[in-house]
Amino acid sequence: MTDWLRNSVFYQIYPQSFLDTNADGIGDLPGVTAKLDYIKDLGCNAIWLNPIYDSPFLDAGYDVRDYKKIAPRYGTMGDFEHLLAEMHKRDMKLLMDLVPGHTSDTHEWFQAAKKAERNEFSDRYIFTECVWDAPSEYRLMCGLCERDGNYMVNYFSSQPALNYGFYHVKYPEWQKSADSPEAWATVEALKDIMRFWLNKGIDGFRVDMADSLVKNDDEKIATANIWRSVRQMMDECYPDAVLISEWSDPLRSIVNSGFHADFYLDHQNNGYNYLFRCKSGDDNRSFFADNAHGDIEEFLADYIPGYTCSKDHGYICFMTNNHDMPRAPFYMSDDIIKLSHAFMMTMPGVPFVYYGDEIAMRYRTDLVSKEGGYSRTGSRTPMQWNFEKNHGFSDADEEMLYLPVDNCENAPTVEGQKGQDGSVYENLRSLIYIRKENPELSNDSEFEIVYARHNEYPFVYRRGSFTAFVNPSNDTKEVDYAANGALVQYSIGGYDIGENTVTIHGRSFLLLKH
Ligand code: NOJ
Repeated sequence: MTDWLRNSVFYQIYPQSFLDTNADGIGDLPGVTAKLDYIKDLGCNAIWLNPIYDSPFLDAGYDVRDYKKIAPRYGTMGDFEHLLAEMHKRDMKLLMDLVPGHTSDTHEWFQAAKKAERNEFSDRYIFTECVWDAPSEYRLMCGLCERDGNYMVNYFSSQPALNYGFYHVKYPEWQKSADSPEAWATVEALKDIMRFWLNKGIDGFRVDMADSLVKNDDEKIATANIWRSVRQMMDECYPDAVLISEWSDPLRSIVNSGFHADFYLDHQNNGYNYLFRCKSGDDNRSFFADNAHGDIEEFLADYIPGYTCSKDHGYICFMTNNHDMPRAPFYMSDDIIKLSHAFMMTMPGVPFVYYGDEIAMRYRTDLVSKEGGYSRTGSRTPMQWNFEKNHGFSDADEEMLYLPVDNCENAPTVEGQKGQDGSVYENLRSLIYIRKENPELSNDSEFEIVYARHNEYPFVYRRGSFTAFVNPSNDTKEVDYAANGALVQYSIGGYDIGENTVTIHGRSFLLLKH
């Protein structure tokens, strides 16, 4: 049963920006296939691919027009099948992105649902009783349809919410309950989409906005009920496939809903935020920051309860970044990024590396929004492979590119960092290999806190016979610790091992093996 997740390190690919093989300026599926050996060599044995379905791209593909068709700009179904076969040949796993909460308003279900005359899809979305009925507590689009009613959206205005019913029905004239046949018809349609891809042999899904299905469901009870039924289908028919949620609530997602893993997202004042992204103006209170003065306890207060309740059921996923957040260099220098990678690759859970983070690609603040990206656009620029035209991303002319490549003088590239001792790339690669070669560092092995003090550095934790010391602050720190002849497995920066103390220099990391 989904044993492969225990030893997986994922690479996330935003396909439009990865590698363009037909010189149209947009990355494509053959481009992903061409780079499988690169990804495998980095140490990643699984890929999460952002949506590649047919779409008008008002939200970069999260506005799905046809769940069973590949967007022509990425290639054909043949290209997809070839990619999957090449991945499996290399013993790599593929997760597609499942968007269950909404479709594009150009989806044929919605085109039918908008019609005045009742039809098979009239209840697939959430429409009020008539157009004059628009309670302000819901995000409703008014006066756009032939049908006499307003429809609810899940994200952008172009993304009508699919109808999984309401847990508390407040307006019975138009709200279906979560256990109504109409709501469960949507669940069946979702399962049908999943079976389509699982039957092709994919290894699971990253699930977009997994908590957003049933409305008026604050405790997520009915939403969890749907996911458990999806999980049951998977356990029965696709026991090796996995579901990873965009939720950031391990209790509700992993324990209550049956997800195999849940992303630790950057939410205001949660543990991930306290670790890496807790910046307002010039004040950066993250634990990992330049001149770091964060508080590890703020991370632990959030992380430990979620970890403790979910660790026997699934995994929390640490990610270097994703397509929705500013990349790490917006918050910290390469030195600190390397420490953050060391931390992520020695913590429990399933690690995710966002394309380009292995070379610390920049977050661009100077770009006009692309395909609904807005502030996220700066994290979605083309991959920087080498020093050639467009950094090797595409042969197209510059003005045709999906987004501009980073042409700043010191723009990092794979070519510039591969084989360079101490580069962000080599640091991450070494750490991934150490994780994969040592079962005690694997995704589900024991984790224990050794030293964590309010407003103090370092943070020290044990994984089996390994102990990790991480000190992003500028100051040298000494902790009582009997190393007893332990071997240094990996280090960044400096340290001194005494008889009963370990001294860890500022901006340093040490991994001991007993
Ligand atoms: C979360 C995705 O990661 C994001 O990119 C997208 O815009 C929204 N969900 C809506 O689907």
